[in-house]
Amino acid sequence: NDASLMSVKPVIGIIGGSGLYDISGLTDQQWVTVETPWGSPSDQLLTGNLNGVSCVFLPRHGRGHGISPSEVNYHANIAAMKKLGVTDIVSVSAVGSLKEELAPGTFVVVDQVIDRTRLRNKSFFGTGLVAHVSLADPFCQRIGQVLFENAKTLGLSVVQGGTYLVMEGPQFSTRAESNLYRSWGASVIGMTNMPEAALAREAEICYATVAMVTDYDCWHEDHDAVSVEAVIKTLTANASNARSLVSKVIPSLGHTRKECYAGCCHALNHAIITAPHK
Ligand code: ADE
Repeated sequence: NDASLMSVKPVIGIIGGSGLYDISGLTDQQWVTVETPWGSPSDQLLTGNLNGVSCVFLPRHGRGHGISPSEVNYHANIAAMKKLGVTDIVSVSAVGSLKEELAPGTFVVVDQVIDRTRLRNKSFFGTGLVAHVSLADPFCQRIGQVLFENAKTLGLSVVQGGTYLVMEGPQFSTRAESNLYRSWGASVIGMTNMPEAALAREAEICYATVAMVTDYDCWHEDHDAVSVEAVIKTLTANASNARSLVSKVIPSLGHTRKECYAGCCHALNHAIITAPHK
């Protein structure tokens, strides 16, 4: 169809998790305030240019990390990105490992999600307009591939594919829960990627996550159970790797391209079930 032939000049959004609070090498930097019908995003958004590519950065928990995973206004964050014209979002998220081979310091380009959150509104739709988008593949495969290739080029320890279990938090898991999630085959555990990924899909924004492993959660008999201290220690040790990856990925994603082959930018085609008003 004609839509698939359209050219897109991408605007790259970065949602930084714990440990990532800006973008290295960004020119024309400006922190801008954006309001949305869903309220205020986590912070101002940092707009700028990297090698001629427009980008927008948002610290998920606010600069200073004052917003807990359950309190993040995911709707406003995604809506603010949409308002600034963002077409592609790279989410950087600290996670615990649920597999022996995913040691702290590993980057995982996740491709699946199990959503165990309970307190979050998960959709832009409802109250008069109902839509059911597909989340069969919750992450954009095109961006995921670019993340993986760039991480490899940088010599990072990176794994392609994995299931991200999203828990409510803010407490970490019990050992029984951690072992349950392992039995389900989940790879990593974190507190933020849902409903973020789902809302990006509803907003027809391509979205992928690179998860940075900071700890072995609490299941591993040879490692202490996860603590904030341990998470911050690994994050600090890996901060420069994460920053290098982000600064390399933005130019790689920034070329004018055809619309995403993965279909994220047409997620609402055939998704709306409410009858049109007569
Ligand atoms: N973020 C970093 N490590 C985590 C863990 N073990 N559980 C949940 N979220 C995390």
